[in-house]
Amino acid sequence: MNVKLLLKTILMGAAAVSFLAAQQPAREPLPDMQSVASALGVTCEYCHAPRGASAAEAPAGPSHISVAKQMIAMTKDLNARVEAASGKAAGVATKVDCATCHRGVPIPKPLGDVLWDTTRTQGAAAAVTQYRDLRTRFFGKSAYDFSEQTLLTLSQRIANVRPDDAIAFAKLNLEFYPNSSASYQAVAFAYTRKVDDASAITALEKAVELDPGNNVARGQLEQLKSYQRRR
Ligand code: HEC
Ligand code: HEC
Repeated sequence: MNVKLLLKTILMGAAAVSFLAAQQPAREPLPDMQSVASALGVTCEYCHAPRGASAAEAPAGPSHISVAKQMIAMTKDLNARVEAASGKAAGVATKVDCATCHRGVPIPKPLGDVLWDTTRTQGAAAAVTQYRDLRTRFFGKSAYDFSEQTLLTLSQRIANVRPDDAIAFAKLNLEFYPNSSASYQAVAFAYTRKVDDASAITALEKAVELDPGNNVARGQLEQLKSYQRRR
């Protein structure tokens, strides 16, 4: 084969390839896989099972890869909607990506909800253990909110129906935020649900001592004390 013919063959081949590419529906560019993995806090194998992985080990429900495919489509839709809603062009509008929701975990559930699920199914002691464990592993990362408010809100939310659990969560909060006047107030509130005014008063006194400006706690303390005097 002479050089001219060889060149012609190569050029024809290239033309055929680009013709084929043009025939195929334009494939959506995939998100960068390294960022996908770190957004979910997983390794590649979480979705791309290594060769030889047994099907019997696969969990019930859709595979991670098929969920991920739908999540990619959903994220694309979300970005189109964000652009439409904000009236900003792609590239100007703030972009939603896997990390916007996932923040380093496969199931991006708020910490308070995670703990409540555990409380309902396994009891508050298990949820307390879980909090300590998650705090050890995730503190300083964006996956979970370990600020003062999380356990406080959980305690307030359940005080009427589960006062003992509410006390456990507020006291757990005090381990990490020993100066939290609001946590003593939450302890006090839960004790009043148990009609244990003496313990409520002790907790409110601590709340006021820690934050003399906490007028709500001060008012509650006055009220409980005068209530006791009248009895
Ligand atoms: C959360 C799930 C998930 C994780 C984690 C993940 N991938 Fe993917 N990956 C996908 C999905 C979904 C596709 C698209 C598959 C499709 O469209 O058929 C894909 C496609 C790919 C492709 C292209 C294959 C093709 O058919 O074009 C490569 C290569 C790849 N991933 C490598 C990686 C590597 C390397 C890692 C680790 C750094 C990784 N992936 C982590 C879900 C994931
Ligand atoms: C708008 C928020 C949001 C965005 C954006 C998002 N996800 Fe999700 N994703 C969720 C929620 C919520 C769940 C948990 C559903 C559940 O309770 O099982 C989830 C679950 C998943 C799961 C299943 C996890 C498991 O262990 O069951 C995968 C895999 C996943 N997402 C991948 C992705 C990928 C990849 C992206 C980016 C392309 C992405 N997600 C973007 C909200 C989001």
